Amino acid sequence: MAEILAVGEALERALALLRGGDVVAIPTETVYGLAGDATNGIGVARIFEAKGRPRFNPLIAHVADMAMAERIALFDPLSKKLALAFWPGPLTLVLPQRPGNGIHPLVTAGLDTIASRMPRGFGGDLIARLGRPLAAPSANSSGKISATTAQAVAGDLGARIKLVVDGGATPVGLESTIVKAEGERLRLLRPGGIAAEDIEAAIGMKLLRGGATGVEAPGMLASHYAPGAAMRLNAGTVGEGEALLGFGSRRAEGWRRAAAFLNLSEAADLREAASNLFAYMQDLDRSGARTIAVEPVPFDGLGEAINDRLSRAAAPRDNTQPAT
Ligand code: TXA
Ligand code: MG
Repeated sequence: MAEILAVGEALERALALLRGGDVVAIPTETVYGLAGDATNGIGVARIFEAKGRPRFNPLIAHVADMAMAERIALFDPLSKKLALAFWPGPLTLVLPQRPGNGIHPLVTAGLDTIASRMPRGFGGDLIARLGRPLAAPSANSSGKISATTAQAVAGDLGARIKLVVDGGATPVGLESTIVKAEGERLRLLRPGGIAAEDIEAAIGMKLLRGGATGVEAPGMLASHYAPGAAMRLNAGTVGEGEALLGFGSRRAEGWRRAAAFLNLSEAADLREAASNLFAYMQDLDRSGARTIAVEPVPFDGLGEAINDRLSRAAAPRDNTQPAT
């Protein structure tokens, strides 16, 4: 079983594992990541192995500072502006790779672009000490909900990895927003921890949406983040034996008969709801209910990302599809 060490005492052990080509689960501000040295093919392969990914989807390369980011990717002026505005933070930029950047091709699944972000907190310190980018997908087995606590990581991947670094519950609770440079414009590939509106305000233009070309974000396929229970969205009533995931102060009809009930945010605060989302889906799943009914969540701000994750969790399950 994986050892769990608090952030204050984990740095040296984590460094030793990464230098030896092994993986470590680390807290970031978004969700826990399963990290390996992005320049070490064995380390990267171990990430896929531990997650049981059905395919080699491209991973995010996490960097410690702007200099490291520019060593691996070619920044256009708009992307640079976003990096300066939001890093460290829950924003991932997909950019052309800098040739000869030393990143193992398994990280990028052979694409000529690379997804990169600068995380807050322990991850940033670890990468600075290692001196190399860390490849890190969310620390969950393939197709499962992203983990927002060290205990959730250990419960899922504990038998397959040696160390989980415990930084407490992740503050954002949703994965990063992914934006891709496309000519003079930027495209939203995945809504996430920074609201698209905030990005649009920072660059003074709208993001392109939908219709991304090619593989792009395979993790964006349906049936992702799936709990064991079925999910029923925008529920106005609660059926017999259903668990209820609430939002705000207005309850779905018949909510008292719910087999289990958790409220993402009584105050209808989307940031609070985002930070509770994955943990509450897991808790309600553990209640044993066949179906989790979910009250409507508005689409503004972080609501876009919350609704995106909910609809993936509710999508028909198809194990042949890749997921991250
Ligand atoms: O908040 C996060 O982003 C977390 C933490 C650990 O940093 N990471 C995360 O990684 O969510 P993952 O692997 O679960 O999702 C990364 C997404 C996938 O959908 C992948 O397909 C996409 O990024 N991606 C990676 N490289 C790409 C590229 N070159 N072009 C387009 N999409 C890419
Ligand atoms: Mg993931």
